Amino acid sequence: MKVTVFGIGYVGLVQAAVLAEVGHDVMCVDVDEAKVTNLKNGVIPIFEPGLAPLVKENYEAGRLTFTTNAIQGIEHGEIQFIAVGTPPDEDGSADLKYVTAVARTIAEHMTGYKVIIDKSTVPVGTADKVRQVVIETLKKRNADIPFDVVSNPEFLKEGAAVSDCMKPERIIIGTNNDQVLDLMRELYAPFNRNHDRMVIMDIRSAELTKYAANCMLATKISFMNEMSNLAELLGADIEKVRQGIGSDSRIGYHFIYPGCGYGGSCFPKDVQALIRTAENIGYQPTLLQAVESVNDKQKHKLFSFLQRHFKGDLKGRTFALWGLSFKPNTDDMRESSSRVLMESLWQAGAKVQAFDPEAMEEARRIYGDRSDLVLVATKEDALKGADALVICTEWQNFRAPDFDLIKATLKQAAIFDGRNLYEPERMAQRGFTYYGIGRGASV
Ligand code: UGA
Repeated sequence: MKVTVFGIGYVGLVQAAVLAEVGHDVMCVDVDEAKVTNLKNGVIPIFEPGLAPLVKENYEAGRLTFTTNAIQGIEHGEIQFIAVGTPPDEDGSADLKYVTAVARTIAEHMTGYKVIIDKSTVPVGTADKVRQVVIETLKKRNADIPFDVVSNPEFLKEGAAVSDCMKPERIIIGTNNDQVLDLMRELYAPFNRNHDRMVIMDIRSAELTKYAANCMLATKISFMNEMSNLAELLGADIEKVRQGIGSDSRIGYHFIYPGCGYGGSCFPKDVQALIRTAENIGYQPTLLQAVESVNDKQKHKLFSFLQRHFKGDLKGRTFALWGLSFKPNTDDMRESSSRVLMESLWQAGAKVQAFDPEAMEEARRIYGDRSDLVLVATKEDALKGADALVICTEWQNFRAPDFDLIKATLKQAAIFDGRNLYEPERMAQRGFTYYGIGRGASV
Protein backbone atom coordinates (compact mmCIF):
# COMPACT_ATOMS: atom_id res chain seq x y z
CA MET A 1 0.00 0.00 0.00
CA LYS A 2 1.09 3.57 -0.56
CA VAL A 3 1.47 5.42 2.69
CA THR A 4 2.53 8.96 3.56
CA VAL A 5 3.79 9.95 6.99
CA PHE A 6 3.87 13.62 7.99
CA GLY A 7 6.44 14.32 10.71
CA ILE A 8 9.74 12.45 10.94
CA GLY A 9 10.03 12.53 14.69
CA TYR A 10 10.26 9.53 16.94
CA VAL A 11 6.84 8.11 16.23
CA GLY A 12 6.73 9.02 12.54
CA LEU A 13 10.15 7.68 11.63
CA VAL A 14 9.80 4.40 13.50
CA GLN A 15 6.30 3.80 12.14
CA ALA A 16 7.39 4.65 8.60
CA ALA A 17 10.46 2.40 8.72
CA VAL A 18 8.48 -0.52 10.12
CA LEU A 19 5.68 -0.13 7.54
CA ALA A 20 8.32 -0.04 4.78
CA GLU A 21 10.02 -3.10 6.23
CA VAL A 22 6.88 -5.20 5.78
CA GLY A 23 6.60 -4.05 2.17
CA HIS A 24 4.51 -0.88 2.10
CA ASP A 25 5.65 2.02 -0.05
CA VAL A 26 6.19 4.82 2.47
CA MET A 27 6.96 8.49 1.85
CA CYS A 28 7.95 10.67 4.82
CA VAL A 29 7.36 14.40 4.73
CA ASP A 30 8.98 16.91 7.07
CA VAL A 31 9.50 20.67 6.98
CA ASP A 32 13.02 20.28 8.36
CA GLU A 33 15.29 20.24 5.29
CA ALA A 34 18.41 19.31 7.22
CA LYS A 35 16.65 16.32 8.74
CA VAL A 36 15.44 15.11 5.34
CA THR A 37 18.90 15.51 3.78
CA ASN A 38 20.52 13.71 6.70
CA LEU A 39 18.09 10.82 6.48
CA LYS A 40 18.79 10.45 2.77
CA ASN A 41 22.46 10.18 3.73
CA GLY A 42 21.73 7.59 6.39
CA VAL A 43 22.05 9.97 9.35
CA ILE A 44 19.33 9.17 11.88
CA PRO A 45 18.28 12.09 14.10
CA ILE A 46 17.72 9.96 17.21
CA PHE A 47 19.41 7.08 18.98
CA GLU A 48 17.09 4.10 18.88
CA PRO A 49 18.31 0.49 18.85
CA GLY A 50 17.75 -1.18 15.46
CA LEU A 51 16.39 1.91 13.74
CA ALA A 52 19.42 2.96 11.69
CA PRO A 53 19.80 -0.31 9.72
CA LEU A 54 16.05 -0.50 9.20
CA VAL A 55 15.95 3.01 7.72
CA LYS A 56 19.04 2.39 5.59
CA GLU A 57 17.85 -0.93 4.12
CA ASN A 58 14.39 0.33 3.30
CA TYR A 59 15.66 3.61 1.89
CA GLU A 60 18.09 1.73 -0.36
CA ALA A 61 15.33 -0.66 -1.39
CA GLY A 62 13.24 2.37 -2.42
CA ARG A 63 10.36 1.51 -0.07
CA LEU A 64 11.12 4.44 2.23
CA THR A 65 11.57 7.94 0.82
CA PHE A 66 12.03 11.33 2.41
CA THR A 67 10.91 14.71 1.15
CA THR A 68 10.09 18.24 2.23
CA ASN A 69 7.59 18.47 -0.60
CA ALA A 70 4.16 18.12 1.01
CA ILE A 71 2.33 18.07 -2.35
CA GLN A 72 4.37 15.08 -3.44
CA GLY A 73 3.54 13.37 -0.15
CA ILE A 74 -0.16 14.08 -0.48
CA GLU A 75 -0.20 12.66 -4.02
CA HIS A 76 1.68 9.57 -2.88
CA GLY A 77 -0.48 7.83 -0.32
CA GLU A 78 -4.13 7.05 0.00
CA ILE A 79 -3.23 6.73 3.67
CA GLN A 80 -1.88 9.91 5.25
CA PHE A 81 -0.46 9.61 8.75
CA ILE A 82 -0.17 12.72 10.89
CA ALA A 83 2.74 12.08 13.26
CA VAL A 84 3.90 15.63 13.97
CA GLY A 85 4.66 16.92 17.47
CA THR A 86 2.06 18.09 19.96
CA PRO A 87 4.20 20.12 22.37
CA PRO A 88 2.63 21.31 25.61
CA ASP A 89 1.02 24.74 25.45
CA GLU A 90 1.82 27.26 28.18
CA ASP A 91 -0.95 25.80 30.36
CA GLY A 92 0.10 22.18 29.78
CA SER A 93 -2.57 21.34 27.22
CA ALA A 94 -1.41 19.79 23.93
CA ASP A 95 -0.72 22.37 21.24
CA LEU A 96 -2.41 21.18 18.05
CA LYS A 97 -1.11 23.80 15.64
CA TYR A 98 1.17 21.37 13.78
CA VAL A 99 -1.54 18.73 13.53
CA THR A 100 -4.12 21.13 12.13
CA ALA A 101 -1.53 22.69 9.79
CA VAL A 102 -0.86 19.27 8.24
CA ALA A 103 -4.60 18.58 7.97
CA ARG A 104 -5.05 21.91 6.18
CA THR A 105 -2.16 21.21 3.80
CA ILE A 106 -3.58 17.79 2.94
CA ALA A 107 -6.98 19.33 2.23
CA GLU A 108 -5.45 22.09 0.12
CA HIS A 109 -3.76 19.66 -2.24
CA MET A 110 -5.63 16.35 -2.22
CA THR A 111 -7.16 15.35 -5.51
CA GLY A 112 -8.70 12.01 -4.52
CA TYR A 113 -9.93 10.03 -1.50
CA LYS A 114 -7.63 10.07 1.57
CA VAL A 115 -7.68 8.39 4.94
CA ILE A 116 -6.13 10.80 7.42
CA ILE A 117 -4.79 9.00 10.48
CA ASP A 118 -4.00 10.77 13.75
CA LYS A 119 -0.92 8.97 15.02
CA SER A 120 0.38 11.73 17.29
CA THR A 121 -0.86 11.74 20.87
CA VAL A 122 -3.77 14.14 20.62
CA PRO A 123 -6.54 15.14 23.04
CA VAL A 124 -10.01 13.71 22.76
CA GLY A 125 -11.86 15.66 20.10
CA THR A 126 -8.86 16.22 17.83
CA ALA A 127 -10.15 13.95 15.06
CA ASP A 128 -13.29 16.10 14.99
CA LYS A 129 -11.12 19.21 14.70
CA VAL A 130 -9.06 17.66 11.92
CA ARG A 131 -12.25 16.70 10.08
CA GLN A 132 -13.55 20.26 10.49
CA VAL A 133 -10.33 21.79 9.14
CA VAL A 134 -10.43 19.50 6.10
CA ILE A 135 -14.12 20.23 5.43
CA GLU A 136 -13.55 24.01 5.66
CA THR A 137 -10.46 23.91 3.46
CA LEU A 138 -12.14 21.78 0.81
CA LYS A 139 -15.10 24.16 0.88
CA LYS A 140 -12.82 27.11 0.15
CA ARG A 141 -11.50 25.17 -2.84
CA ASN A 142 -15.04 24.34 -3.91
CA ALA A 143 -13.84 20.76 -3.96
CA ASP A 144 -16.03 17.80 -3.13
CA ILE A 145 -13.49 15.08 -2.33
CA PRO A 146 -14.23 12.23 0.06
CA PHE A 147 -11.98 11.57 3.07
CA ASP A 148 -12.02 9.87 6.44
CA VAL A 149 -10.29 10.57 9.73
CA VAL A 150 -9.05 7.74 11.94
CA SER A 151 -7.52 7.74 15.40
CA ASN A 152 -4.68 5.24 15.63
CA PRO A 153 -2.51 6.14 18.63
CA GLU A 154 1.01 4.78 19.02
CA PHE A 155 2.23 2.86 22.07
CA LEU A 156 5.95 2.47 21.39
CA LYS A 157 8.50 2.90 24.15
CA GLU A 158 11.75 4.73 23.51
CA GLY A 159 14.64 2.29 23.52
CA ALA A 160 12.34 -0.51 22.33
CA ALA A 161 10.49 1.45 19.66
CA VAL A 162 11.30 -0.78 16.69
CA SER A 163 10.30 -4.02 18.38
CA ASP A 164 7.21 -2.41 19.95
CA CYS A 165 6.17 -1.27 16.50
CA MET A 166 7.05 -4.56 14.80
CA LYS A 167 5.24 -6.65 17.41
CA PRO A 168 2.52 -4.42 18.83
CA GLU A 169 0.57 -5.70 21.82
CA ARG A 170 -2.45 -3.89 20.46
CA ILE A 171 -3.40 -1.81 17.45
CA ILE A 172 -6.04 0.68 18.47
CA ILE A 173 -8.28 1.82 15.64
CA GLY A 174 -10.83 4.53 16.22
CA THR A 175 -13.30 4.74 13.35
CA ASN A 176 -17.00 4.41 12.68
CA ASN A 177 -16.59 3.44 9.04
CA ASP A 178 -16.39 -0.19 7.93
CA GLN A 179 -14.65 0.58 4.64
CA VAL A 180 -11.89 2.41 6.46
CA LEU A 181 -11.60 -0.52 8.79
CA ASP A 182 -10.93 -2.82 5.84
CA LEU A 183 -8.12 -0.52 4.74
CA MET A 184 -6.67 -0.50 8.26
CA ARG A 185 -6.82 -4.30 8.38
CA GLU A 186 -4.90 -4.48 5.13
CA LEU A 187 -2.33 -1.94 6.30
CA TYR A 188 -1.68 -3.72 9.58
CA ALA A 189 -2.15 -7.32 8.39
CA PRO A 190 1.61 -8.08 8.62
CA PHE A 191 1.56 -7.10 12.32
CA ASN A 192 -1.67 -8.86 13.10
CA ARG A 193 -0.79 -12.51 12.69
CA ASN A 194 -1.25 -15.38 15.18
CA HIS A 195 -3.96 -13.55 17.07
CA ASP A 196 -6.00 -10.43 16.43
CA ARG A 197 -4.32 -7.43 17.98
CA MET A 198 -6.71 -4.89 16.52
CA VAL A 199 -9.03 -3.24 19.00
CA ILE A 200 -11.72 -1.36 17.15
CA MET A 201 -13.68 1.43 18.78
CA ASP A 202 -15.17 4.85 18.21
CA ILE A 203 -12.78 7.73 17.59
CA ARG A 204 -13.10 9.46 20.97
CA SER A 205 -12.52 6.24 22.90
CA ALA A 206 -9.39 5.58 20.83
CA GLU A 207 -8.11 9.07 21.61
CA LEU A 208 -8.76 8.63 25.32
CA THR A 209 -7.22 5.13 25.34
CA LYS A 210 -3.81 6.61 24.60
CA TYR A 211 -3.96 9.05 27.52
CA ALA A 212 -5.54 6.51 29.86
CA ALA A 213 -2.69 4.06 29.17
CA ASN A 214 0.07 6.57 29.86
CA CYS A 215 -1.70 8.04 32.87
CA MET A 216 -2.26 4.57 34.34
CA LEU A 217 1.45 3.78 33.98
CA ALA A 218 2.43 7.14 35.48
CA THR A 219 0.00 6.45 38.34
CA LYS A 220 1.66 3.11 39.06
CA ILE A 221 5.04 4.83 39.29
CA SER A 222 3.87 7.70 41.48
CA PHE A 223 2.05 5.23 43.70
CA MET A 224 5.26 3.26 44.18
CA ASN A 225 7.23 6.42 44.78
CA GLU A 226 4.76 7.46 47.46
CA MET A 227 5.07 4.00 49.04
CA SER A 228 8.86 4.34 48.88
CA ASN A 229 8.70 7.58 50.85
CA LEU A 230 6.54 5.86 53.44
CA ALA A 231 8.89 2.86 53.52
CA GLU A 232 11.81 5.18 54.14
CA LEU A 233 10.07 6.83 57.09
CA LEU A 234 8.73 3.56 58.48
CA GLY A 235 12.01 1.66 58.27
CA ALA A 236 10.74 -0.74 55.59
CA ASP A 237 12.41 -1.72 52.30
CA ILE A 238 10.34 -0.81 49.23
CA GLU A 239 12.20 -3.41 47.14
CA LYS A 240 10.83 -6.16 49.39
CA VAL A 241 7.40 -4.54 49.29
CA ARG A 242 7.60 -4.36 45.49
CA GLN A 243 8.26 -8.07 45.23
CA GLY A 244 5.56 -8.78 47.76
CA ILE A 245 2.83 -6.90 45.94
CA GLY A 246 4.02 -7.75 42.41
CA SER A 247 3.41 -11.43 43.10
CA ASP A 248 -0.32 -10.66 43.19
CA SER A 249 -1.24 -11.25 39.56
CA ARG A 250 -3.83 -8.48 39.75
CA ILE A 251 -1.00 -6.04 40.49
CA GLY A 252 1.87 -7.63 38.55
CA TYR A 253 5.58 -6.90 38.50
CA HIS A 254 5.63 -4.44 35.61
CA PHE A 255 6.07 -0.72 36.08
CA ILE A 256 6.23 -0.73 39.86
CA TYR A 257 9.87 0.25 40.16
CA PRO A 258 10.37 3.17 42.52
CA GLY A 259 12.92 5.74 41.49
CA CYS A 260 13.83 9.41 41.25
CA GLY A 261 10.73 10.18 39.18
CA TYR A 262 9.44 9.47 35.70
CA GLY A 263 10.53 11.62 32.77
CA GLY A 264 10.55 11.53 29.00
CA SER A 265 8.50 13.21 26.35
CA CYS A 266 5.30 11.33 27.14
CA PHE A 267 4.27 10.76 30.75
CA PRO A 268 4.78 14.28 32.12
CA LYS A 269 3.22 15.86 29.01
CA ASP A 270 0.31 13.45 28.75
CA VAL A 271 -0.61 13.57 32.45
CA GLN A 272 -0.62 17.36 32.25
CA ALA A 273 -2.63 17.37 29.05
CA LEU A 274 -5.32 15.10 30.48
CA ILE A 275 -5.49 17.29 33.59
CA ARG A 276 -6.11 20.30 31.33
CA THR A 277 -8.69 18.41 29.27
CA ALA A 278 -10.53 17.44 32.46
CA GLU A 279 -10.41 20.95 33.89
CA ASN A 280 -11.64 22.44 30.65
CA ILE A 281 -14.81 20.39 30.91
CA GLY A 282 -15.28 21.26 34.57
CA TYR A 283 -13.97 18.02 36.08
CA GLN A 284 -11.44 18.07 38.92
CA PRO A 285 -8.93 15.26 38.14
CA THR A 286 -7.76 14.77 41.74
CA LEU A 287 -5.85 11.55 41.15
CA LEU A 288 -3.99 12.81 38.07
CA GLN A 289 -3.01 15.99 39.91
CA ALA A 290 -1.61 13.87 42.73
CA VAL A 291 0.30 11.69 40.25
CA GLU A 292 1.95 14.80 38.85
CA SER A 293 2.74 16.40 42.18
CA VAL A 294 4.21 13.17 43.65
CA ASN A 295 6.46 12.96 40.58
CA ASP A 296 7.57 16.58 40.82
CA LYS A 297 8.56 16.01 44.45
CA GLN A 298 10.26 12.72 43.64
CA LYS A 299 12.54 14.43 41.15
CA HIS A 300 13.95 16.43 44.09
CA LYS A 301 14.55 13.33 46.18
CA LEU A 302 18.24 12.86 45.40
CA PHE A 303 18.97 16.52 46.00
CA SER A 304 17.30 16.36 49.40
CA PHE A 305 19.40 13.27 50.27
CA LEU A 306 22.53 15.23 49.30
CA GLN A 307 21.48 18.19 51.36
CA ARG A 308 20.79 15.97 54.33
CA HIS A 309 24.03 14.06 54.03
CA PHE A 310 26.20 17.16 53.55
CA LYS A 311 24.14 19.14 56.08
CA GLY A 312 23.27 21.79 53.50
CA ASP A 313 26.92 22.40 52.71
CA LEU A 314 26.99 21.74 48.95
CA LYS A 315 28.72 24.90 47.76
CA GLY A 316 32.07 24.21 46.10
CA ARG A 317 31.57 20.45 46.11
CA THR A 318 31.80 18.24 43.04
CA PHE A 319 29.41 15.37 42.36
CA ALA A 320 29.88 12.45 40.02
CA LEU A 321 26.66 11.81 38.11
CA TRP A 322 25.97 8.55 36.30
CA GLY A 323 23.08 8.70 33.88
CA LEU A 324 21.58 11.72 32.14
CA SER A 325 18.89 10.23 29.90
CA PHE A 326 15.37 9.83 31.32
CA LYS A 327 15.78 6.06 31.07
CA PRO A 328 18.34 3.61 29.64
CA ASN A 329 18.80 2.90 25.91
CA THR A 330 17.99 6.39 24.78
CA ASP A 331 19.82 9.71 24.49
CA ASP A 332 16.62 11.58 25.33
CA MET A 333 16.91 13.96 28.29
CA ARG A 334 13.47 15.50 28.08
CA GLU A 335 12.00 15.90 31.58
CA SER A 336 14.81 13.74 32.93
CA SER A 337 15.35 13.66 36.71
CA SER A 338 19.04 14.27 36.09
CA ARG A 339 18.21 17.77 34.89
CA VAL A 340 16.27 18.66 38.02
CA LEU A 341 19.15 17.34 40.12
CA MET A 342 21.89 19.14 38.16
CA GLU A 343 20.01 22.41 38.14
CA SER A 344 19.45 22.22 41.92
CA LEU A 345 23.12 21.41 42.47
CA TRP A 346 24.25 24.32 40.32
CA GLN A 347 21.95 26.63 42.19
CA ALA A 348 23.52 25.41 45.43
CA GLY A 349 26.98 26.23 44.02
CA ALA A 350 28.08 22.65 43.35
CA LYS A 351 29.74 21.23 40.25
CA VAL A 352 28.67 18.11 38.31
CA GLN A 353 30.92 15.61 36.53
CA ALA A 354 28.57 13.58 34.38
CA PHE A 355 28.73 10.45 32.29
CA ASP A 356 26.02 8.81 30.21
CA PRO A 357 26.54 6.05 27.61
CA GLU A 358 24.44 7.90 24.98
CA ALA A 359 23.26 11.31 26.14
CA MET A 360 26.54 13.25 26.27
CA GLU A 361 25.93 15.14 23.06
CA GLU A 362 22.38 15.87 24.09
CA ALA A 363 23.62 17.29 27.40
CA ARG A 364 26.10 19.45 25.49
CA ARG A 365 23.34 20.65 23.21
CA ILE A 366 21.04 21.53 26.13
CA TYR A 367 23.52 23.12 28.51
CA GLY A 368 26.35 24.26 26.25
CA ASP A 369 29.66 25.17 27.84
CA ARG A 370 29.43 25.90 31.52
CA SER A 371 32.09 25.65 34.16
CA ASP A 372 29.91 23.74 36.63
CA LEU A 373 29.20 20.88 34.21
CA VAL A 374 32.03 18.62 33.09
CA LEU A 375 31.04 15.91 30.64
CA VAL A 376 33.53 13.06 30.92
CA ALA A 377 34.35 10.10 28.71
CA THR A 378 33.87 7.22 31.17
CA LYS A 379 31.96 6.51 34.33
CA GLU A 380 35.30 6.15 36.15
CA ASP A 381 36.41 9.63 35.01
CA ALA A 382 33.28 11.07 36.60
CA LEU A 383 34.49 9.91 40.02
CA LYS A 384 37.82 11.75 39.93
CA GLY A 385 37.91 14.48 42.56
CA ALA A 386 34.21 14.08 43.30
CA ASP A 387 32.76 14.20 46.81
CA ALA A 388 30.15 11.49 46.16
CA LEU A 389 28.41 9.52 43.40
CA VAL A 390 24.81 10.08 42.32
CA ILE A 391 22.95 7.73 39.94
CA CYS A 392 19.95 8.89 37.94
CA THR A 393 19.55 6.26 35.19
CA GLU A 394 19.75 2.48 35.41
CA TRP A 395 22.05 1.79 32.45
CA GLN A 396 23.20 -1.87 32.47
CA ASN A 397 26.77 -0.74 32.59
CA PHE A 398 26.22 0.82 36.05
CA ARG A 399 24.91 -2.34 37.69
CA ALA A 400 28.17 -4.06 38.61
CA PRO A 401 30.88 -1.38 38.86
CA ASP A 402 34.27 -1.75 40.50
CA PHE A 403 33.24 -0.71 44.01
CA ASP A 404 36.83 -0.68 45.29
CA LEU A 405 37.75 1.80 42.60
CA ILE A 406 34.72 3.95 43.40
CA LYS A 407 35.69 3.97 47.07
CA ALA A 408 39.31 4.74 46.37
CA THR A 409 38.47 7.59 43.96
CA LEU A 410 35.64 9.44 45.69
CA LYS A 411 36.45 11.83 48.51
CA GLN A 412 33.67 10.24 50.56
CA ALA A 413 32.47 6.68 50.09
CA ALA A 414 28.88 7.80 49.56
CA ILE A 415 26.46 6.70 46.82
CA PHE A 416 23.06 8.27 46.17
CA ASP A 417 21.22 5.79 44.02
CA GLY A 418 18.03 7.04 42.35
CA ARG A 419 17.30 3.66 40.73
CA ASN A 420 17.99 1.13 43.49
CA LEU A 421 20.74 -0.67 41.60
CA TYR A 422 22.55 -2.06 44.63
CA GLU A 423 21.75 -3.86 47.85
CA PRO A 424 22.02 -1.63 50.95
CA GLU A 425 23.48 -4.42 53.10
CA ARG A 426 26.23 -5.23 50.61
CA MET A 427 27.00 -1.56 50.25
CA ALA A 428 27.35 -1.19 54.01
CA GLN A 429 29.68 -4.22 54.06
CA ARG A 430 31.75 -2.58 51.35
CA GLY A 431 32.06 0.49 53.54
CA PHE A 432 29.73 2.83 51.68
CA THR A 433 27.15 5.21 52.98
CA TYR A 434 24.34 4.26 50.65
CA TYR A 435 21.13 6.11 49.94
CA GLY A 436 18.50 4.26 47.90
CA ILE A 437 14.89 5.10 47.18
CA GLY A 438 12.57 3.84 49.92
CA ARG A 439 15.10 1.58 51.57
CA GLY A 440 14.16 2.57 55.11
CA ALA A 441 16.78 0.94 57.26
CA SER A 442 19.71 2.35 55.27
CA VAL A 443 18.57 5.93 54.80
C1 UGA B 1 5.85 5.73 27.40
C2 UGA B 1 4.94 4.48 27.42
O1 UGA B 1 5.54 3.44 28.20
C3 UGA B 1 4.66 3.98 26.00
O2 UGA B 1 3.75 2.89 26.04
C4 UGA B 1 4.06 5.14 25.19
O3 UGA B 1 3.79 4.75 23.85
C5 UGA B 1 5.03 6.30 25.19
O4 UGA B 1 5.25 6.72 26.55
C6 UGA B 1 4.40 7.42 24.38
O5 UGA B 1 3.35 7.92 24.78
O6 UGA B 1 4.88 7.69 23.28
P1 UGA B 1 8.49 6.12 27.20
O7 UGA B 1 8.21 7.57 27.47
O8 UGA B 1 9.40 5.77 26.08
O9 UGA B 1 7.11 5.33 26.89
O10 UGA B 1 9.14 5.54 28.52
P2 UGA B 1 8.81 4.46 29.63
O11 UGA B 1 9.62 3.25 29.40
O12 UGA B 1 7.37 4.27 29.80
O13 UGA B 1 9.43 5.19 30.92
C7 UGA B 1 8.94 6.45 31.35
C8 UGA B 1 9.58 6.86 32.65
O14 UGA B 1 9.06 6.09 33.72
C9 UGA B 1 11.10 6.72 32.73
O15 UGA B 1 11.65 7.89 33.29
C10 UGA B 1 11.31 5.53 33.65
O16 UGA B 1 12.52 5.61 34.37
C11 UGA B 1 10.12 5.66 34.58
N1 UGA B 1 9.72 4.37 35.21
C12 UGA B 1 9.25 3.35 34.46
C13 UGA B 1 9.82 4.24 36.58
O17 UGA B 1 10.25 5.18 37.31
N2 UGA B 1 9.42 3.07 37.17
C14 UGA B 1 8.94 2.03 36.46
O18 UGA B 1 8.57 0.99 37.05
C15 UGA B 1 8.85 2.18 35.05
